[in-house]
Amino acid sequence: MLDRAATGAARTAPEAAPVEQDRECYRFPSRFLWGAATASHQVEGNNRHNDWWQFEEAGRLPHRSGQACRHYERYESDFELARSLGHNAHRLSLEWSRIEPEPGVWDETELEHYASVIAALRARGIEPVVTLHHFTSPAWFARGGGWTRPDSVALFARYAARVAQRLAGEVRFWLTINEPTVYVKHAYVTGDWPPCRPGAWGSAARALLHLSRAHVAAYRLLHSVRPDVMVGLAHSAPFVTACNPASWLDRSAARMRDFALNDLVFRLLGVRPVATLDFIGINYYARQVVRSRFGSVRTMLFGTECHEDHHGAPRSFTPMGWEIYAPGLRQVLRRFQRYGVPLMVTENGIATTDETSREAYLNSHLQALGQAVEDGIPVLGYLYWTLMDNYEWTEGRDARFGLMAVDFDTQERTVRPTARILQKACRDNSVDREPLAGVSSACRAHSRAYGR
Ligand code: FCB
Repeated sequence: MLDRAATGAARTAPEAAPVEQDRECYRFPSRFLWGAATASHQVEGNNRHNDWWQFEEAGRLPHRSGQACRHYERYESDFELARSLGHNAHRLSLEWSRIEPEPGVWDETELEHYASVIAALRARGIEPVVTLHHFTSPAWFARGGGWTRPDSVALFARYAARVAQRLAGEVRFWLTINEPTVYVKHAYVTGDWPPCRPGAWGSAARALLHLSRAHVAAYRLLHSVRPDVMVGLAHSAPFVTACNPASWLDRSAARMRDFALNDLVFRLLGVRPVATLDFIGINYYARQVVRSRFGSVRTMLFGTECHEDHHGAPRSFTPMGWEIYAPGLRQVLRRFQRYGVPLMVTENGIATTDETSREAYLNSHLQALGQAVEDGIPVLGYLYWTLMDNYEWTEGRDARFGLMAVDFDTQERTVRPTARILQKACRDNSVDREPLAGVSSACRAHSRAYGR
């Protein structure tokens, strides 16, 4: 455990203070942030100036983001729905390619658009949590080599400075980069995301280094404009474990994978990572059970995922093949606590059309979150992924993560029963220790009683 005073944990927000225990429920700190997360390209629509749009236009995928959820125009009514569901926080990302569609050319109307989006949240009592980069980059930036280009950090810093000057006054919580390791893996290792360069290990390393430096630069810029901002990055934190703990090979593959996915990016932040982290955003979805496999360099080093059922309790997987493992959320929160700064769950959710599974997923993860808070882990908030069904990258519109269903022909939103579970947590600032069976109907009845 690091020395908290020495690591800058003096910045710990009052929101993360410990809470009294209750026999019936897990209680959360006052001012705990409850809400949902989104990302610009996945919801706004018509993000024509970024690399993903170009990727889609090149016909590399069976689908296109197109109008997405038309959230760019519909944000007021979407936030009204979030408010009616009791949310007091909302994570969104800014689309760099809108703000700087050509190098050094700033579109002030887009900056004003985001100022209005943030004002719309504030007007509803919803705390904005703003991401500067969520996977998409301006097409011009990507054409010049994207995150591998030597000037990538300076270019991102120029964008961050512009944004900080205009928006930092209204936004306290910032996430600089979303999931650097996931981005680098898909872009340069598996190569299924733009710029689609499978096996480009050197580029992967360079891009990850630049993303880490971009975080540091943005952290400093935001603090120079507004000293009391809380700046972090959104880290994808799978719970990684060995398939056969008695096997040295499995253990070492799991260790290597865990290092690459959960440690490396923090090492790249410098000798004292927390010097540039006021909190850490934790995106948690799944457990990865790893076994070693001779084959390619990748599988030898990092193993492959075992989906078999020989690890004790029966396992279940989402339709995307991600293992549902709620205790992992408590584990990863405990693990990242060692950095000595508060944590925020900045994504957690399930893609399914089966509402019973979604309810069970949310309930079990809220339990794990409650246990983590009771363990004394300083957690600032919980943001479900995602507010509404969206354009889910290579899965297109098939992966339905939303608290609200979206009919993409009519753009109609329908609140799903699971949203009521989160609504209850938001309203009570607590989670029952043993959620009732058939909780959706119980919650529906409950929320009717509260006039929603
Ligand atoms: C995360 C991404 C988010 C969404 C969810 C399902 O890795 O940050 O945009 O795709 O997964």
